[in-house]
This record gives sequence, C-alpha cells and structure tokens, in this order.
Amino acid sequence: MVKIATIVGARPQFIKAAPVSRAFRSTDCIQEIMIHTGQHFDENMSDVFFTELEIPQPDYSLGIHSGSHGMQTGRMLEAIERVLYKEQPDAVLVYGDTNSTLAGALAAVKLHIPVIHVEAGLRSFNRLMPEEINRVMTDHITEFLFAPTEAAVINLRKEGIAEHKIYHVGDVMYDAALYYGQKADNSSRILEMIRVDPKKYVLATIHRPGNTDDPARLQTIFEGLCQVGQELPVVLPLHPRTYGALQRMNLLEKVRDQIKIVEPVGYLDMVMLEKWASLIATDSGGVQKEAFFYEVPCATLRSETEWVELVELGWNHLVRMDDRQTVCLDILAVLDHSGKAGKPYGDGEAARRIADAVERAFEAGGGFD
Ligand code: UD1
Ligand code: UDP
Repeated sequence: MVKIATIVGARPQFIKAAPVSRAFRSTDCIQEIMIHTGQHFDENMSDVFFTELEIPQPDYSLGIHSGSHGMQTGRMLEAIERVLYKEQPDAVLVYGDTNSTLAGALAAVKLHIPVIHVEAGLRSFNRLMPEEINRVMTDHITEFLFAPTEAAVINLRKEGIAEHKIYHVGDVMYDAALYYGQKADNSSRILEMIRVDPKKYVLATIHRPGNTDDPARLQTIFEGLCQVGQELPVVLPLHPRTYGALQRMNLLEKVRDQIKIVEPVGYLDMVMLEKWASLIATDSGGVQKEAFFYEVPCATLRSETEWVELVELGWNHLVRMDDRQTVCLDILAVLDHSGKAGKPYGDGEAARRIADAVERAFEAGGGFD
C-alpha cells in the first residue's frame, strides 16, 4: 500500500482534490490521508465543498486560519511536520500555489519525503503575487511535477527541472468540471433564488490582494463593475478578503445598491452561475478556466494570467484598470465574443493519470527516484 498525505486548505484546493482523491480511492493500492490546514474555514469556503464533492472528511484539521504570510505559513509548517512525523507517508501531495501548498511541500522535503505537486509549472512572472513565490519554491522542491498545460511544461523546462520529473497530465479542474457540470444542472436552484435570467447577467469574482489591498485599485474596479451594472445585472459572490476590504473603505453598502452581492456559493451553484452568465469578469485562476469550459467569454481583471492559452484562443481578455470607464468598457467588450475551439486542458482524465503515475512509481521501485 502506498501512503499519500494530501495537504489542502483553500477553496480551489478542495475542488482540485475531489477528482484526484476519487481516482486514488478507485485503485486498491493507494491510501490517502487528508490534512486540512484550516486556511479557509467558513462553512461556505470549506465544509460545503467536502459535502457536495464527496471528499472524505480530513483526517487532520489543523485549524490554522488567517495571519501574515510568515505567521500563517510558519504555523502550518510546524503543524504539518508533526503529522508527517506521526504518519510517515511515502509521499506528500500538494495542490496549486497557496500558503498551504508551500508549507506542505517544505515540511515534507525537510523530512526527505518526496513531494507531488499537482498544477506544477504555472507562472505569472509577477513576483509581487504571493502565489508566484509559492509556486516557484514548491516546484523546485518537488519530485513529481504534474503539469496541467503545455505552457506549464515549457516553464518548468526553462527553469532547469529534470525532464523525468515532469508529467503533462492535463488539468484536474477540467476533470471536476466534466464530472460535476451535469450535477449542477440537476441540483442547483441558484438562478431562481437570486432572481436572474439565464444569459442576462454578468458573473464577477474579485479576491486577489493586488486588487483588494490597494484602496485606489479596489475603488476603480468596483466603480467599473457598478457601471457595468447599469447595462446588465452583475452577480458577485463576495470573497471574505474582498468583503473585509470593502468594509474598511465604507464601500460595501454603496456597491450593494448596484451589484447583486451574495455570500460565497458552493461549487454546484457556482458552476450554474458560470454556465448561464453572459460573460464572466474575474481575477480568479480557477474561474477563468471554468468560463472556458462552459464557453462563456471572460474578462480578467489582472495585468497578466498564468492561463495564457485562454488569451491565445480568444476566450479570455485582460482588462485595463486605468479608471472606471476602461474597466467597464473592457468588461462589456467581451460580450458575445467567443474564441477558437481547443483542448488545452486535456481530456478529463488528469486525475486518473496522476493516480496511475503514483501507483507505477511505487510498484517500480518502492518509491520515487
Ligand atoms: C488564498 C490564496 C490564494 C487563493 C485564494 C482562493 C495564499 C497566499 N492565497 O487567498 O492564492 O487564490 O486563497 O480563494 O495562500 N477568510 C475568512 N474566512 C475564510 C477564509 C478566509 O474570513 O473561510 C479571510 C481571512 O481571515 C483573511 C482573508 O479572508 O482575512 C484572506 O484569507 P487568506 O486565506 O489569507 O487568503 P485568500 O485571499 O483567501
Ligand atoms: N468558487 C465557488 N464559489 C464561489 C467562488 C468560487 O465554488 O463563490 C469556485 C470556482 O468555481 C472555482 C474555485 O472556487 O472552482 C476558484 O477558487 P478561487 O477563485 O477562490 O481561487 P483561485 O482559483 O483564484 O486560486
């Protein structure tokens, strides 16, 4: 039996873990121990995903919530190390680019436990993003790099990562979209609940520190979204970071008058909102891709994206954030703009490939080389 300790902590990691964990369970030789750092902790940022996506409850809940980067990552490092000492797993699996990812990878490598990184090789080339630091550091201490795209593979090669460590498997978020997309149609009633008509609203999400923590930028974005709201209803499931920022700036009530602000929603409701939007305006990594999966044009409120193939295919457009007018115009410009067909994220079998590779690595030699 191969024992894998998986680290999750933030919302997108629960979604990525769902198909991989299912693929592990379908083998008879992988035992998975789930460690939840606690980075996201509200019911609608964490528990709802375990229930909806049928992820096994965490074996360890470390309860490490917010804090400065150093404090949060450091406390996770310490707590994860304790679990790894106790469990002695054969490998540690981490997802994406959050502080939970870096803490998990670092705790493992220091104990000489091989690291598996799912969603390796993404780069924004913007070192001001905390995620960029987390990704680069994690990839360079990882033994098994599961890259979602060709661009990610090229990034890893350019950084001198040994070829035999890189696996181009596709994107596990595409696996999740295929698996749960249908379920959303059958079970979500969100459109009726918030009273919007299919293909007659804009779905927006904002949570990147670069957009929320700079008051001038936050104000420009929200004024731009309010202006969009004069043309089409805007629905915005509000991330807690952005909730805090809007509150601090006394903008929340003003914005509520012009945008339908809702609490963060579960995955099935989110998929429903994405599928039936006229367009999506977001700074989220996962939401940019989901827009493409459901063939909805996307305006990205960032100056660069890791998902370069979406821009190349013409499904994703970067928004200029000079002032409220450019934000509004650039968002509305993507209406009715479909891009070219393409399959940059694989065939929905990424999770199975990951499970196969893990199984083979241990069958072959009892561990990673
Ligand atoms: C984190 C990740 C980011 C990812 C995002 C997904 C890092 C550095 N950032 O950003 O890459 O895109 O998750 O959503 O790891 N909060 C709550 N309740 C919760 C969760 C968070 O109130 O359930 C509050 C925290 O107390 C904090 C703020 O939201 O004040 C930000 O949370 P944090 O996990 O530090 O970063 P995110 O912005 O969520
Ligand atoms: N998501 C969700 N409910 C919401 C907002 C997002 O289920 O209210 C899902 C979304 O469908 C995607 C993932 O969360 O699968 C993206 O997470 P997030 O935007 O928090 O982080 P990022 O992908 O930018 O790291």
